[in-house]
Amino acid sequence: MPNSIVIGSQWGDEGKGKIVDFLTETADVVVRAQGGNNAGHTVISAGKKYVLHLMPSGILWPDKLNVIGNGVVIDPMGLLTEIDGLEEKGVSVASDRLKISNRAHITMPYHREMDAYNELQRGDGKIGTTKRGIGPTYGDKVDRTGFRLHDLVGDPTIFAERYYEKAQQCNVIFEAAGLEPIDAEATGKQLIAAGERLAPYTADTVEVLHNELRSGKTFLFEGAQGTYLDIDQGTYPFVTSSNTISAGACTGSGIPPHAIDEVIGVAKAYTTRVGAGPFPTGDEALSDRFHNMGREFGATTGRKRRCGWLDMVLLRYSAMVNGVSRWAITNVDGLDELEEIPICTRYEVNGKQVTLPPAPIAEFESAKPILETMPGWQEDTTGCRSYDELPANARAYLDRIEVETGAQVGFVGVGPDREQTIIR
Ligand code: GDP
Ligand code: IMO
Ligand code: MG
Repeated sequence: MPNSIVIGSQWGDEGKGKIVDFLTETADVVVRAQGGNNAGHTVISAGKKYVLHLMPSGILWPDKLNVIGNGVVIDPMGLLTEIDGLEEKGVSVASDRLKISNRAHITMPYHREMDAYNELQRGDGKIGTTKRGIGPTYGDKVDRTGFRLHDLVGDPTIFAERYYEKAQQCNVIFEAAGLEPIDAEATGKQLIAAGERLAPYTADTVEVLHNELRSGKTFLFEGAQGTYLDIDQGTYPFVTSSNTISAGACTGSGIPPHAIDEVIGVAKAYTTRVGAGPFPTGDEALSDRFHNMGREFGATTGRKRRCGWLDMVLLRYSAMVNGVSRWAITNVDGLDELEEIPICTRYEVNGKQVTLPPAPIAEFESAKPILETMPGWQEDTTGCRSYDELPANARAYLDRIEVETGAQVGFVGVGPDREQTIIR
């Protein structure tokens, strides 16, 4: 397999975890390069369900190297909880299987509280964040006041001094707003203890990855979130705080673009979004339908995901900015029962038809989807194991994605299990 980047093409939760787990069989190294534990990637392996937040989905394969790159923001206690949970389920997370960048920024307890505080301040304009402290952590990184993992595992005395000072500054804001202040001393101690446990995993992962690259190993980059949550290309300000598009894999790992062979864009056969912000094809009846089927609840926060029809305007732009070479279209089985399936090919914005998403959020909010209807297949696809076994109308639906976006469909998901993945 070539070196591949797997990214989300919509608003996250496209099924990246499942696709990465599936592709890991033919890779040597699996890398997360952005986001934090706002991500929730569901993998079902040997009948067991795992929800991974910071851990690359390659961890479920015994002989692969997993790397958390410099672009990821790490909540040390959150990561340790995740490691312990995996070990309890019998998954080894030994320090020769997981390497964490010493350049990665740390999400602090005050970042989580600041996230909640910021949301409160936004009132009706709130983003609906996961409250994992992601925005404030990346904010400090860009403001050049953040802490990196080497600060925590390096000299605990220097770390503690800087940490107390920063926590006190945040406490002034929290107390003025009537919120509980952070217990700087207790949380500082917790962090230092967490740093001691994370020390064996901590490495200069740029050096580690380049050694692997030189010895001809195959890389798989696991994106988090999705293209429309990208800080530059998404529905700003209703976005996350990292570059979720394919380019983020390079900046967040230190692997140069010319080492990448392909980009796999993961998209659901319909669209979902969790949190606030525009959603032109959102449809309440479809949301109710999926929720009644027990589908489409957030893997990190348990919130109901908003659901809507497949939006080719989104996929067209995703194909462009990510350089999608192949699509992985998941959850095709979710549409099995429908007689007719609306798809959106263009928006009407300010009385004009457009084929690409508008930049101003007000225009995105007001965009009317121009829908057309495709015939459904009304057959159970969950047992299909080859492209030819798919019903003709399902293939026509997938063909249409290729026509609208100019990228080929390479993989099709017909259920949550690893085996329910078709390679074309
Ligand atoms: P991620 O964040 O992109 O990894 O996606 P999530 O795990 O948050 O959400 C995707 C959901 O869809 C999970 O519950 C997966 O188990 C499930 N899933 C993935 N692919 C398929 C598929 O092809 N069919 C069905 N029915 N479920 C799928
Ligand atoms: P995966 O990797 C879906 C959304 C939040 C909110 C916005 C900002 O599982 O696809 P943040 O906490 O990042 O500041 O929240 O982004 N969001 C996600 N939605 N899947 C995710 O990750 C998400 N990570 C963040 O709901 O709207
Ligand atoms: Mg998810």
